[in-house]
Amino acid sequence: MDKSDNNNLDYQQGTISAVDLHDAVRREHPLHPGERGTIGVSVLVISALILIFGGGHLFSTSNSFSSSIYISDGYVPEPRPSLGGAAEDTAEVAWIDKWTSDGKKVYANCIACHQASGLGIPGQFPPLVGSEWVDGGTKRLGAILLHGINGPFKVGGQTYNQLMPAWNNLSDDKIAQVLTYVRREFGGLPEGVDGVVTTEMIKAARDEFIGHTAPYTEAELLAIPQDAELSGAKVDLQTGQPLP
Ligand code: HEC
Repeated sequence: MDKSDNNNLDYQQGTISAVDLHDAVRREHPLHPGERGTIGVSVLVISALILIFGGGHLFSTSNSFSSSIYISDGYVPEPRPSLGGAAEDTAEVAWIDKWTSDGKKVYANCIACHQASGLGIPGQFPPLVGSEWVDGGTKRLGAILLHGINGPFKVGGQTYNQLMPAWNNLSDDKIAQVLTYVRREFGGLPEGVDGVVTTEMIKAARDEFIGHTAPYTEAELLAIPQDAELSGAKVDLQTGQPLP
């Protein structure tokens, strides 16, 4: 800019000069279209340094932003919880557990007389716990369940003289289940005996005792050997499948 431009003649005359008014505007160096403004070199250098060091720091400490940075050394994850699902459940519950828990449901029919505890009611209904009939073989039990008992009838030296109802209106499955439950829950099973009664065994009992219509008397039941078993294959307790 030329020095003479700065001489302010109008100012000296004490009037407001249009030149004065425009001085500020003239001082600014306008950007024309297509012309680029410039940023101070120091600003560029500082920005570059921030990017380089900041980026480097993140790169070396962030572990690619993985959540594993929160896991302490020596951490061993718990196994995944089971999410259920029918297929998984049946595979995990042993057949025998389902069989006896179903038997417990059928036992609801017996509770009024023999009680949930299996101890019966003294003088009226005999106990299943400690009973020589429950502890014996399955043949007598099959006969008792299918056709009932007409007293007098001795259990553990005590005589009972009522009527044990017949349960042949229950399915083979249900009779097998309740007898399995009674033997395993209340019985004193000999070593190595699993107490399982199968559907196949109850079918065999129905066939064998089909001719009997009236409830059994004590003498008739005593005629069946105490350790006689109903015929039927032993089963795998895990799967319920017959053992070879
Ligand atoms: C209405 C009462 C009553 C019900 C219900 C009943 N019982 Fe009995 N039970 C008797 C009586 C009474 C005797 C003893 C024989 C008698 O006096 O006639 C007996 C005897 C027995 C015996 C042989 C004796 C012993 O104590 O071991 C067995 C086993 C038995 N019951 C199992 C069952 C089962 C299992 C059920 C359920 C499915 C059942 N009872 C339901 C009344 C009942």
